[in-house]
Amino acid sequence: MPRRTEIASILEQAPRDQQVTVMGWVRAFRSNRFIALYDGSTMKQLQVVVDYEKLDESLLKRIHFHACVAVTGKVIASIGSGQAVEVLAESIEILGEADPESYVLQPKAQTMEYLRQQAHFRMRTNVMNAVFRVRHAVAFAVHKYFNDRGYFYMHTPIITGSDAEGAGEMFRVTTLPPGFTPPKGEDGHDDWSADFFQRPTNLTVSGQLQAEIGALALGKVYTFGPTFRAENSNTSRHLAEFWMIEPEIAFFDIHDDMDLAEDFVQYLIRYTLEHCSDELEFLDQRLAELEKNMKKEERRPMGLLETLRFVIDNKFERVTYTEAVELLRSSKAYKKGKFTYPVEWGKDLQAEHERWLVEQHFQKPVIVRNYPKEIKAFYMRLNEDNKTVAAMDVLFPGIGEVIGGSQREERYDVLLQRVRDFKIAEEELWWYLDLRRFGGAPHAGFGLGFERMVQFITGMNNIRDVIPFPRTPGNAHF
Ligand code: 4AD
Ligand code: MG
Repeated sequence: MPRRTEIASILEQAPRDQQVTVMGWVRAFRSNRFIALYDGSTMKQLQVVVDYEKLDESLLKRIHFHACVAVTGKVIASIGSGQAVEVLAESIEILGEADPESYVLQPKAQTMEYLRQQAHFRMRTNVMNAVFRVRHAVAFAVHKYFNDRGYFYMHTPIITGSDAEGAGEMFRVTTLPPGFTPPKGEDGHDDWSADFFQRPTNLTVSGQLQAEIGALALGKVYTFGPTFRAENSNTSRHLAEFWMIEPEIAFFDIHDDMDLAEDFVQYLIRYTLEHCSDELEFLDQRLAELEKNMKKEERRPMGLLETLRFVIDNKFERVTYTEAVELLRSSKAYKKGKFTYPVEWGKDLQAEHERWLVEQHFQKPVIVRNYPKEIKAFYMRLNEDNKTVAAMDVLFPGIGEVIGGSQREERYDVLLQRVRDFKIAEEELWWYLDLRRFGGAPHAGFGLGFERMVQFITGMNNIRDVIPFPRTPGNAHF
């Protein structure tokens, strides 16, 4: 294989007729003369000029959309507008054909739904290329943020026996045949000794409980791993398999936790703006293009880049759940009966309520804290009012909840009571309770839904288009 030069490097070179070999995929072939080539090294494409009189006609006929080619030629100054340099082809080799008669992608607008069915090819499109380049940058920024601040990256288990959220929406993991029902053991409990782990296990819904172990030993830790939820939510914001980032910090209260959350997501956006300007400009224009055909009230109030800059330049609004409920109940939308779900103290806020707070009322990201204890997880710290817990959700425009977190209940007796109130099997949580009996400390943390964050930064409408292979109810292809 001849040594190839990446397009990113060619575009930075001064044209001196130097010889290069480039390898990549064809985006377009115009007038039998201009190939738009890309190779993944940059969002930009390289213009290859073909001298059709010098090249074999039968070869030129095989240069189709998404065919893979190797081009050897000279780097010259471009006379056309749009690029400074181009490559004048002296020889072309087809590395991989793409017969347009049978290839499922075409150089025209194809719907995101259609592209999802072609997940093995969709990464080659401009849009998906941009999205996955951004996804990488955001993932990298996550590690950089925490590493630079002295946090330890902790790997929490993917297979676990505990239900961290106590919501029961879990995928079972077993080596037993379908339909197996455990016999009763001598102690009257189900006997799982025939199963691989000799107990019921599931895919984790969150690494938080184990991250707490880390925080109470290393001070500051974070996880960044896949999490799984068997909730039957067919929405543009839910995946059955998604990635979550969960920092957990000792000697932190709910206010420290909110400060960290705000600083962290602003950093991720700032980092992406700095490192993915080509990608974000492309996505910004794409969105503007899409919205041209939409009714005014359906359009976003700001463009993508404008939204991102707005979020890093403005402090998030902070309200308590109780204040949020009061605001909602005194809103015009509520009085005119525009909400589908009731707004009552004690009931969880629905997406429509969160959207009203963020998009209509405050018109900026909002952090809601101190939710009623009944609607949040058992591990959240009980406030002095005995009615609310030190929970906080970060709500973003267009996306809703991107972060859920809390100060954790560090008082053994209070936690034990909460576990019992929620009817959680306390013997399963012996180690979690132990953390409060020996060397316990106040601590807090949160979980950021990675795909929701990438969705926000890229402006994609559907969460399925920011993960290479989405898993949703009824769909686990690829
Ligand atoms: O609010 P959640 O359920 O919180 C937890 O799991 C806590 N243990 C986190 C912690 O305190 N360490 O989930 C956290 C975030 C949500 O705010 C949301 O962004 C994302 O995870 N998320 C999902 N993202 C995609 N698809 C789903 N089905 C999601 N469920 C939650
Ligand atoms: Mg939540």
